[in-house]
Amino acid sequence: MAFPIHRLRRLRNDPRVRAMVRETRLAADQLVEPLFVVPGTGARVEIPSMPGQFRLSVDELLRECEASLAAGIRAVLLFGIPEKKDATGSDGYAVDGIIASATRALKRALPDLHVIADVCLCEYTDHGHCGVVRDGKLVNDETLELLAREAVTYAEAGVDMVAPSAMADGQVAAIREALDAAGHRDLPIMSYSAKYASAFYGPFRDAADSAPAFGDRGAYQMDPASRKQALREVDLDIEEGADIVMVKPALAYLDILRQVAERVDVPVAAYNVSGEYSLVKATAARGWIDERRAATEILIALRRAGADIIITYFAKQAAGWLA
Ligand code: PBG
Repeated sequence: MAFPIHRLRRLRNDPRVRAMVRETRLAADQLVEPLFVVPGTGARVEIPSMPGQFRLSVDELLRECEASLAAGIRAVLLFGIPEKKDATGSDGYAVDGIIASATRALKRALPDLHVIADVCLCEYTDHGHCGVVRDGKLVNDETLELLAREAVTYAEAGVDMVAPSAMADGQVAAIREALDAAGHRDLPIMSYSAKYASAFYGPFRDAADSAPAFGDRGAYQMDPASRKQALREVDLDIEEGADIVMVKPALAYLDILRQVAERVDVPVAAYNVSGEYSLVKATAARGWIDERRAATEILIALRRAGADIIITYFAKQAAGWLA
């Protein structure tokens, strides 16, 4: 009989022993902070659906990133909201576009900051889809050319990593080839490999003003009810040259995260998305949940499930909690 010989509580009674046997750790240098950049100066506008997150003009972005570095956050993921959107999302790959400009300013002022750029077109297109649209459909192969151009533009502006998120087939290969041809052989690609068509992106689409004007993203992002295609997406991205693969969203997809982490030999990132952040913020604001404990528990759960890197809007707060 196992009991009374075995008593698992023996290792739980003393907080020092609990810490000694703790399996999962979280450190600030595993966190990436997403930030939203807008044109102009002096802009720091709170995003209503994401309390504590702001749309920042480049000058304010510099201030924010300085504070992040001081808090122990070393990497940021940039999203741009351009002055003008158009059918092909040209601000995304314009040399003087919002992200290219922000990157040059950031790298000049804060060379120690690791700058990652999201590579997608939905923030820059007037229809809000992630690439070239014809007859109401995303045209995959024409989109690849634009994504590759966008990645090269960001590389020339000085980003340290690119993160393609359009879920176009072949996007990693197209970007790798274009980067190499332009001499950026050492620039890593973190691919949003297993990206689901999720309601949890709702607050982000408010923030980036990028909700699709018609239809949804079901034809290119993955079906939440499926698992196997996530594994194929990850395998194909690694074959195409992804240096890091990502699972997104994170919280409702811990099973995918765990399976991907066990399957691959490249680092795995989890994106703790806007809706997951806002759920905690909104309930904490009502006094229904302890924000710090809930957020920490989520971040630890993502690490436990297999994430090496966590992209989270809690990054700066968490760095403070960890200090
Ligand atoms: C696409 C992109 C999105 C997010 C990250 N990159 C939006 C989408 O696919 O609709 C969502 C992130 C979040 O919800 O925090 N550029």
